[in-house]
Amino acid sequence: MIDQIKALEDKAAKALAEATSKEHLEELRVAFLGKKGEITALSRGMKDVAAEQRKEIGQVVNAVKERIGALLDERLAVIAAKEREAELAAARVDVTLPGRRRRLGHLSPLTQVEREINRIFQSLGFVIELGPEVETPHYNFDQLNFPPDHPARDAQDTIFIDEGRLLRTHTSPVQIRVMERTRPPIRMIAPGWVYRSDTLDATHSPMFSQVEGLVVDDGITFGDLFGVLNEFVHQFYGTNVKTRFRPSFFPFTEPSAEMDITCPFCEGKGTVNGARCRVCSGSGWKELLGCGMVDENVLKAVGYDPEHYTGFAFGIGIERLTMFKYGVNEIRHFFEGDVRFISQF
Ligand code: DAH
Repeated sequence: MIDQIKALEDKAAKALAEATSKEHLEELRVAFLGKKGEITALSRGMKDVAAEQRKEIGQVVNAVKERIGALLDERLAVIAAKEREAELAAARVDVTLPGRRRRLGHLSPLTQVEREINRIFQSLGFVIELGPEVETPHYNFDQLNFPPDHPARDAQDTIFIDEGRLLRTHTSPVQIRVMERTRPPIRMIAPGWVYRSDTLDATHSPMFSQVEGLVVDDGITFGDLFGVLNEFVHQFYGTNVKTRFRPSFFPFTEPSAEMDITCPFCEGKGTVNGARCRVCSGSGWKELLGCGMVDENVLKAVGYDPEHYTGFAFGIGIERLTMFKYGVNEIRHFFEGDVRFISQF
């Protein structure tokens, strides 16, 4: 009987030592110590043991029960520790790895070009003036000699906030604000956003930016305008770029002109690597800006004597200037804020 018990003990101890999971261990517990377990069965069988042996055998059975219980606990502790270790290994953080670098932004090409324009005109003695983007018809149209029925005043072209306020359609009202505030000599540029009720497409945007220029003094001539704008183009695009002036019309200048430049992208050749230039469509020229001599009516309206003072003015689209320089043919790129586009400049 004792041998049988010992054999059972050895069997249980061996099985426990080989158990590798909590589930397996639980099965073994049930098989040996459960209600119908083999060791439990031994305890139950004690009543059939001869009275004189009962004490001795009872002690052995109890000792085996205790030992198997202890082995179970021991094994459970070992398995739990192993599982915990595996969990930790799986969740391990390598604190020596380098951190993830946050990508830095980049200056918009428009900002860079605006700064370059400012730098060039400042080198020619111009000062930078700013005006409000919400304007009145007085500054945006009346003082600039737009007749009352001019189509630009229509809500088709201009974004009105209410009858007395609108989003400026050009930077020209800054000319008026500066002339009202000061006396000649004036040598200023005014960069900033302007708005028109245009639908967004490859070359139009309801919001874009311009730089206005104004010079007023004794004896300013068209030759001064010509010299300043040529100098600007040569500093901005390089001295290989040629310019030409075509007669044009603006209500606030007389005479008025448009300045064209040889296409900076294909250098006026009309082709790039044998293909038609995508900036000038093969013509070799691009219209760059509007300009002219300040109209007498504009000078009079701000209280300047046109017999004494003359001046010239110009307006440049910053997006156009940038597109010609870099061969960008989609104005929308400038407003999408995609760093993959912006960081190329
Ligand atoms: N304001 C004009 C526009 O937005 C551009 C312009 C043309 C400005 C001639 C001027 C100028 O100062 O003299 O189309």
